Order: sequence, then C-alpha cells, then structure tokens
Amino acid sequence: MEKNRALDSHTILFGVFGDPVRHSRSPVMLNQAFQVAGLNHAYAAFHVEPPALGDAVRGIRALGFRGVNVTIPHKVEVMQYLDEIDEGARVIGAVNTIVNENGKLIGYNTDGIGYVRSLKEETGIDIRGKRIVLLGAGGAARGVAYALAKEAPAEICIANRTKEKAIDLAEAIGAYTSTRGMGLNELRDAVSEADIIVNTTSSGMHPHVGDVPMPVEWISSRHLCSDLIYNPRITRFLQEAEKNGARIHGGLGMFIYQGAYAFEYWTGVTAPVSAMRQVVEQSLA
Ligand code: ATR
Repeated sequence: MEKNRALDSHTILFGVFGDPVRHSRSPVMLNQAFQVAGLNHAYAAFHVEPPALGDAVRGIRALGFRGVNVTIPHKVEVMQYLDEIDEGARVIGAVNTIVNENGKLIGYNTDGIGYVRSLKEETGIDIRGKRIVLLGAGGAARGVAYALAKEAPAEICIANRTKEKAIDLAEAIGAYTSTRGMGLNELRDAVSEADIIVNTTSSGMHPHVGDVPMPVEWISSRHLCSDLIYNPRITRFLQEAEKNGARIHGGLGMFIYQGAYAFEYWTGVTAPVSAMRQVVEQSLA
C-alpha cells in the first residue's frame, strides 16, 4: 500500500455532514480509498447542526469541496439547498451524496444502489424475476425499494407496522415494478411465495438484539434473507433464518458500497472496495 500522503496546497477536500457525526466510519473508509487510489484527496467529519445546514452547503461551493456525504438528520432538508437532484434521489426523497460540478451542486442517493450492489456482489443473486418481501417503509426502505425496483424483480411486497406508509412507498415505486403495500400482519402468503426477504426496519438493532421483524418460523430454504442492520453484524433475524435453511446477507456491505458509489461519482475511478471493507471491519472490531 502507498505511504500516507501529507495534505498540501493541492489537496481536494471532501467530508460528511451529520449531527451526531463522531461515530461515522466514512472518514476512515474514504481516506483509505483515496490513499489506495493514489489521489491527493482528504475527507473529514463535520458536526453540522440543523440551523447551520444552509451555510455548510454554501461552504462546499465557497471552499471548492469536490463532494460531501450527508447523514442523519440532514438527508431530506439538504435537498432545498442543491442546484439539481438526480432522479433516484428525487423518487426516494433524500440525498446522501453531493457532487460539486464547478460550483453546481448535484444531489444523489447512493444508499439503495449501494445496498443492491452489495446484495448482488456478496451473494451472486440475479434479482430479475424474483419475488421480494421488503419489511419496513422508512427512510432506508425508500432507497432500497427504488434500487430493487430498477432490477426488474417479479414483484416487491412492502410490509410495514404502519400500513399506510407501506402503501405510499409501493405507490412511489409502482412506476418501476409491480408492487403491493400491506401491514406486517398480512405478510404470510407473500412470504410463502418470496425468494428474497429484506429487513429495513430497526427491529433487531442494538440494543434490541432479541427482536425480529417477522415470525421466523415462516422462513425456509427457499429464501435469501437480508438485513440492513450491521450492528450486530448478524441479527437474530438472520441467525434464525440460517437455522431454517435460508441463505443470509448482512448489512455491512450496504455501508461500504454506498461509499464506493460516492467515491466513483466524485473521482470517476472504480472504488477499491476490498481495501475499504478491510479498514471498516478493523474499525468495528
Ligand atoms: P430508517 O431511516 O432507518 O429507515 P425510519 O425512517 O425511522 O428509519 O424507519 C424505521 C422503520 O422501522 C419503519 O418502517 C418503522 O415502522 P413504522 O413506519 O410503523 O414506524 C420500522 N420499525 C421500527 N421499529 C419497529 C418495530 N419494533 N417493529 C416493526 N417495525 C419497526
């Protein structure tokens, strides 16, 4: 690996805006990627509180940052300060990556496409023609549902505790694929026909590690079960799914590939994914 490069007067700057932000693994991951790619780029975490978001975005232009990631709680609010929003980010209703094209700020969402690339690369599955059950209809679900819909599945069934949100999301992506929205209590038939089950809810996330988002006894060897959660690395939902013979896929890859897409949008260079994964795994160990 190349020796660590000192910042100089040519260094191109990047960052993540969040509140809180000190837990973010993005600086470690993106700086590693820049270093491995031999780029004189640097990435830092900026604690931006909501009232300061507009000023912070104007700072991207003023200081000539090439790109920024935005995380909780800014992904929706940031859109009003940008010059252009990519189609996917518009449908999802949230931006996590900003590209500065000579002062023009363009918003993208790489979360959902990052998830789908991780699912495909890490399991080898071909999503075309598959029946998918998506559990949850919050912010993360929107990105994942949109990106899955673009892969030409046979159907996406969205099930959520609050049924209306599932129906709204099913409608929002209905232009791209066949969809159904339902309550969690109406899931059974959809699960029995599904090939892929994706948990986007926070059920099972630390510290609620005993929770599962659906009755696990409905899962069998016909299923590939995937969870967006990566703390814990393997949720109880995935543990139980594996016991029932299902293939499983954890959430860490989504974080890595959303960063890989951001890297690629900013630099035009293929992201060094394995080096990024290695440094993130070290930071979580
Ligand atoms: P995120 O950005 O991580 O998606 P979010 O927008 O708050 O966060 O969405 C959380 C999702 O998890 C929602 O689908 C939520 O269901 P509701 O819309 O009914 O609130 C779901 N969720 C959270 N806790 C849950 C639980 N204990 N059981 C089932 N679903 C849960």
